[in-house]
Amino acid sequence: MPGSSTAKRSVRLLDLHPPHGDFRSEVLDGLGAEDKWLSAKYFYDERGSHLFDAITHLPEYYPTRTELGIMDSSMPEIAARVGPRSCIIEFGSGSGLKTRRLLNGLDSPVAYVPVEISRDHLLSSAQTLADEFQDLEVLPVCADFTAPFELPNPASQAERNVVFFPGSTIGNFTHEYAADLLAVMRIEAGRGGGLVVGVDLRKDRGILERAYNDARGVTADFNLNLLRRINRELGGSFDLDRFRHRAIWNDADGRIEMYLDSLADQIVTVAGERIRFREGESILTEYSHKYELREFAELASGSGLRVLQTWTDPDSLFSIQYLECVD
Ligand code: AVJ
Repeated sequence: MPGSSTAKRSVRLLDLHPPHGDFRSEVLDGLGAEDKWLSAKYFYDERGSHLFDAITHLPEYYPTRTELGIMDSSMPEIAARVGPRSCIIEFGSGSGLKTRRLLNGLDSPVAYVPVEISRDHLLSSAQTLADEFQDLEVLPVCADFTAPFELPNPASQAERNVVFFPGSTIGNFTHEYAADLLAVMRIEAGRGGGLVVGVDLRKDRGILERAYNDARGVTADFNLNLLRRINRELGGSFDLDRFRHRAIWNDADGRIEMYLDSLADQIVTVAGERIRFREGESILTEYSHKYELREFAELASGSGLRVLQTWTDPDSLFSIQYLECVD
């Protein structure tokens, strides 16, 4: 079919050559520390990404379905805030499901700029989106979004830049780092720009702890998969049966904390180094911060952002927020 709407456009990558975080040295740093830790960003190898996808469908894991529900019911208002002819800059390039809903709901968006450190993931999701949204300029940027980066220039001028950061991924960061990240987003959105951010909310501890300790043990599998990845990629000798997943709500710091607890005194080898575990000793693997609306507005204001509107579900489990850049 000549000239058909399925013709593929090539997607041009802006490659800022981010220094790829060194898995080996970061793992050895974390496991060598007094309080052992591993970075949550390493959960998402192929198996980990599949497990996370399974988590999003669990009955106990409310965030994904709740956020999608808010997007469905509030899209006209979200679109009105974003306005016509926007350039959407997504921090991370997610599953594409939420991106699709946003782009479908907006008034004539001109460009979509996914920013992501993993070149392969970035390119394949950008190409899929470009094929699906023929009128949209898709301009992927390979960069580490925790520091300011250069934006590509869309051929058609956008009315406004809006950073999209769904999923409450902001919750992975401590308040201090979350404030830094919001400041980077403000810089990228620029004068007159804004942010659409998904923020998980504080709630009953039982709901929270169940969401991260599901009955089928998918979250446990997801957490333990980090050890499996270390075994495969760094020649590790972790025995997955000798570690146990644990997730607890820390009320003082407003966050879920995930750990892997050693079930025995044991020595594990990773990349040739011997690491000693005491029985009951834990490895911190993830924070997932939850916010009061006022608490998040205060954090944002410290980063030069003003909350203009928030949308929540009927049970106030989750929020989507529109933040505008303060001059
Ligand atoms: C992808 C970081 C938003 O914190 O809820 C889900 C990751 N970890 N279950 C979250 C996660 C365990 C998730 N985020």
